[in-house]
Amino acid sequence: ERGRLLFAGPVDFLKGVVAMDGLPPADRVEVCFAGRSNVGKSSLINALTGRKALARASNTPGRTQEINFFTLGDARYLVDLPGYGFAQAPVAVVAKWQALLKSYLAGRATLRRAFVLIDSRHGVKDVDEEIMGLLDSSAVTFQVVMTKADKISLKEREKVLGQVRGKLAKHPAAYPEIVLTSSEKGTGIETLRAIISGLE
Ligand code: GTP
Ligand code: MG
Repeated sequence: ERGRLLFAGPVDFLKGVVAMDGLPPADRVEVCFAGRSNVGKSSLINALTGRKALARASNTPGRTQEINFFTLGDARYLVDLPGYGFAQAPVAVVAKWQALLKSYLAGRATLRRAFVLIDSRHGVKDVDEEIMGLLDSSAVTFQVVMTKADKISLKEREKVLGQVRGKLAKHPAAYPEIVLTSSEKGTGIETLRAIISGLE
């Protein structure tokens, strides 16, 4: 199957980008992963690629301030965005990051989809809505990926999913299907691989 083949090929870290002029050539389909600090972005990229330490998954939130580019052969860029909503980050750092994020989202022609990661226990927070608003105005289709599904019961999950669906209804750029994942257990990983592989 095509999805499996894409992810079975070589996966590499390409570079960390801190300014627009550092972006690699826009020559292939690109997807990015956005979400609050500690939501599980790096862990998800590791799970998708089957490489445990490819995107550094750390317990120190808000440390990565670079846009990290990974390559799936020459077919895809996977882009790990810095976590947002980390209260202890200095104001100047946050401002610089927001400016870069805005330019990136508005100006990246090959960016086909943003995955907005939401913690299955916490649902959509105000900072998530800000990012969703930015994606709306940048006309970047985004899809919600619930993370850490292994940490909650089915009942709690349904309640949080209801909250998320309600929030998504207000965002024109939102793709309606929500993907439930656990990087720890492997839940939803094949589904997400197929989605990424299927984008053209
Ligand atoms: P920043 O880069 O700081 O924004 O964080 P991040 O979004 O990349 O999160 P990261 O992948 O580093 O994960 C944060 C913490 O959550 C780590 O301790 C992970 O082990 C844990 N974690 C991530 N995904 C899962 C999951 O599916 N299940 C469980 N139980 N823990 C997870
Ligand atoms: Mg990370």
